[in-house]
Amino acid sequence: MRAVLVANPKGGAGKTTLATNLSGYFSNTGRSTTLCDLDRQQSALRWMAFRSPDLTAVTGYFGGNQLAVSLPKETDWVVVDAPAGLQGYKLSDYIRLVDKVVVPLVPSIFDMAATEDFLNSLRNDLRGGARDKVGIVAMRVDPRTRAATMLEEFLKHFDLPILAYLRNTQNYVNVAAAGASLFDPPKSRHKKDLEQWQPLIEWLEK
Ligand SMILES: Nc1ncnc2c1ncn2[C@@H]1O[C@H](COP(=O)(O)OP(=O)(O)OP(=O)(O)O)[C@@H](O)[C@H]1O
Ligand SMILES: [Mg+2]
Repeated sequence: MRAVLVANPKGGAGKTTLATNLSGYFSNTGRSTTLCDLDRQQSALRWMAFRSPDLTAVTGYFGGNQLAVSLPKETDWVVVDAPAGLQGYKLSDYIRLVDKVVVPLVPSIFDMAATEDFLNSLRNDLRGGARDKVGIVAMRVDPRTRAATMLEEFLKHFDLPILAYLRNTQNYVNVAAAGASLFDPPKSRHKKDLEQWQPLIEWLEK
């Protein structure tokens, strides 16, 4: 079993969007995939409920508020969708249990300010090994813009890699409404977005 945690304390950063699409990726590449929803709002589980039985299977469960955290060992990949506000000992617990941590981050001053303490505590929890375990996904941004440069400047303080730049597109909204991901057929419709996911996927599969 390998596990990836998608986390950022800021609401609306894109955690569930990343978690559901990652689940779609793993299941479409033949891996048994479990989506662990830690959010009381259970958006990831709602997405799963919409998922057609004609698509590759993703199983899931609500993992919120467990005292002793455990992840299912009999599955190939577990994707953990964190709620807004996850921090402190609970966050540290999860970081210890997973192989990778992916942090979606929108390059706005509000989102960056709300994420700063979180990135600092991630770095302290992981000490030297942070770069291999934690990566940033720049959400709703074009890499050639000033917003992207601002984000790169901000992240220099934490020495964390930007794994991918995902553009702002209704494709994410549309696939989610159907319980699907960019990686479900017809994939040709999302060619440009799939290209943007490639470096993130390579980092996860490493
Ligand atoms: N790249 C994108 N392009 C367009 N819309 C996006 C993109 N990424 C996310 N969204 C939209 O932004 C909204 C917030 O995303 P999402 O629900 O994934 O964030 P979240 O971090 O899980 O929020 P919460 O903290 O409430 O759990 C959703 O409506 C989603 O469809
Ligand atoms: Mg969410």
